[in-house]
Amino acid sequence: MNGYRVAIVGATGLVGGEFIKVLEERDFPVSTMQLFASDRSAGKKLFYNHREYEVKETSPESFRDVDIALFSAGADISRYFAPIAARSGAVVIDNSAAFRMEEDVPLVVPEINAGDIKKHKGIIANPNCSTIQMVVALNPLHKINPIKRIVVTTFQSVSGTGSAAIDELTIQSKQILGAQNVVPHVYPHQIAFNVLPQIDVFLDNAYTKEEWKMVEETRKIMHDDDILVSATCVRVPVFISHSEAVNVEFTNSISPDDARRILAQAPGVRVLDDPAISLYPHPWMAAGTDDTYVGRIRRDVSASNSLVMWIVADNVRKGAALNAVQIAEELVRHEWLHPGA
Ligand SMILES: NC(=O)c1ccc[n+]([C@@H]2O[C@H](COP(=O)([O-])OP(=O)(O)OC[C@H]3O[C@@H](n4cnc5c(N)ncnc54)[C@H](OP(=O)(O)O)[C@@H]3O)[C@@H](O)[C@H]2O)c1
Repeated sequence: MNGYRVAIVGATGLVGGEFIKVLEERDFPVSTMQLFASDRSAGKKLFYNHREYEVKETSPESFRDVDIALFSAGADISRYFAPIAARSGAVVIDNSAAFRMEEDVPLVVPEINAGDIKKHKGIIANPNCSTIQMVVALNPLHKINPIKRIVVTTFQSVSGTGSAAIDELTIQSKQILGAQNVVPHVYPHQIAFNVLPQIDVFLDNAYTKEEWKMVEETRKIMHDDDILVSATCVRVPVFISHSEAVNVEFTNSISPDDARRILAQAPGVRVLDDPAISLYPHPWMAAGTDDTYVGRIRRDVSASNSLVMWIVADNVRKGAALNAVQIAEELVRHEWLHPGA
């Protein structure tokens, strides 16, 4: 059978499940599929393309017959197993933060810097979900009118934390509506009917790690270390899709109409922007779809050469599984699996 030997590490998770769906939907050329997770899930059965596969415990031997390994099992697992997989001859596309800022690891959003993929040394990193949707929407504008400064506030769904957080929001919502007490497990505070201005741990500079990812990753993906970024990342009681309110300062003047025109042509972007009929993107409509949606585009009345906009995308798809599969498609299309071979 023609195709590539694919493995998914973290196949039983939220992103792992979406990997399976996206590979099926996009008819990725798979010759053999192997599904890995922890020992807790070993023996569990999952379907890929109508065929049942048994989930196996991830081990150093798991990658012997693998061309492409899609990792979504957290940074510790990636740190341990991804180099082993790469040494075994697989190209790893990693969803965790483990290698994103390493110099010899491409950090890729295919609509922006697909060319970086060919420099890989066995590991390619998928950026953080909130960064991906922001740069998909901003890079087409940056290419025409360089961006000087971005101030972003995110409204991130609980699916960004994985399946345990989906359960937590469901359970807490029922408990609160049933006038029961809530005990938070996944987040430091109750997430149902609440909003938490903390995603990941706080750093010495008082930003959170998630916020700092948006600063560093944006610069690496857009190949511009001069872009200033300040982010406030907020967890909201939404199941799927992240939303972002973004103020962008450009080098030169740009009108909202110009921005709409540029974004209407941009790959992976859909403009939904007609205030007269309350047309703008929102998490519910973006969930389960591939595009990054942009609306509420307007002049920032507080700064020159600046726009404000609202960006929404499905964090599990474009923010994780879809972006990784698009990287795999580029690898295959350009025959970059074995660079220099
Ligand atoms: N959710 C998102 O929107 C999103 C976006 C971008 C990046 N990511 C990243 O993707 C990764 C997974 O996220 P998720 O949302 O899918 O989380 P999840 O739903 O909690 O799934 C975690 C997966 O990791 C597996 N795993 C845990 N410990 C393991 C071990 N010791 N060995 C092998 N596999 C192990 C789990 O397997 P078991 O079933 O056996 O426990 C499960 O398949 C994280 O690094 C996350 O940061 C997530």
